[in-house]
Amino acid sequence: MELLAPAPGQVYVDCTAGLGGHASAIAARLRPSGTVILNDVDPGNLAKAEAAVRTSGPGIQVIPIQGNFADLPRKVAEHGLAADMVLADLGFASTQVDDAGRGLSFSRDGPLDMRLDPTLPVTAAELVATLPEEELAQVIRMYGEEREAGRIARKLVRERERSPITTTGRLAEAVRSVLPRRFDPSAIDPATRTFQALRIAVNDEIGTLEALLAGVERAARSVGRGAGAWLRPGARVAIVGFHSLEDRPVKRAFGGLAATGLAELLTDGPVGPTEREAASNPRSRSSRLRAVKLVTVGSPAV
Ligand SMILES: C[S@@+](CC[C@H](N)C(=O)[O-])C[C@H]1O[C@@H](n2cnc3c(N)ncnc32)[C@H](O)[C@@H]1O
Repeated sequence: MELLAPAPGQVYVDCTAGLGGHASAIAARLRPSGTVILNDVDPGNLAKAEAAVRTSGPGIQVIPIQGNFADLPRKVAEHGLAADMVLADLGFASTQVDDAGRGLSFSRDGPLDMRLDPTLPVTAAELVATLPEEELAQVIRMYGEEREAGRIARKLVRERERSPITTTGRLAEAVRSVLPRRFDPSAIDPATRTFQALRIAVNDEIGTLEALLAGVERAARSVGRGAGAWLRPGARVAIVGFHSLEDRPVKRAFGGLAATGLAELLTDGPVGPTEREAASNPRSRSSRLRAVKLVTVGSPAV
């Protein structure tokens, strides 16, 4: 809230509306007359966010948009709007990971799906069934930062030859059998990194983040030239990532904008939760927030 600094009458774009927690808090600060654009790939979450924002921000214009935030810069401009604030709170929501039917959790058995957007064409089960061993290893190494990716991929190929791997329970067991759980009870589940890797691949999470960042960069250049864009001059953009694969491109993009004089960094480094916040909301523990403010007038040093 401090970094986005919402003020009455402003336009807020929430790239990842989720359950509407952030959007409701911000909507209350836009009253009596702002605009909230809510975006999510998950239609169920989008509906929940819309209901939450309508309650917390009576009088606020609410525009729900279902789809990938990669397309949001174009869609915001098509609505004839320009944002004062943008937030992307990456990854999945509690509703999604807690629903065994979505196949995101290694601790709940369910279909091996992992799509955040139910209209995506390929599920995790299909990836595991069809990728050649070397490509499977590459996905697990690259998106899971898993050192044992080769051994895991070999095991998955042996398992799928016996019968297709169609559930989260069977995938988790196969990974655990290669990487036995360490004695340390605080160590993460051995399946964590493989699940992260497949989820990132199924949802093209890094590609879509890069597309959103490219949209921010294009808008920053337009604002710098004094031209119209989906972001207003002086707009604030904040992104919350949960692991280094998300944080790195954000750091690089924001750093590039600051280096060329198109934006000012609002955070010196990644901002994590306070101890109190991490204790009351354990899922916030790995979060890393970065924010920038676009220049307000033209002629930056580009
Ligand atoms: C961490 S939750 C957001 C929680 C939200 N900030 C709140 O306060 O309730 C992430 C949400 O982003 C959505 N999401 C993830 N990737 C997306 C993408 N590329 N485009 C649009 N929505 C996405 C997910 O469906 C999920 O609902």
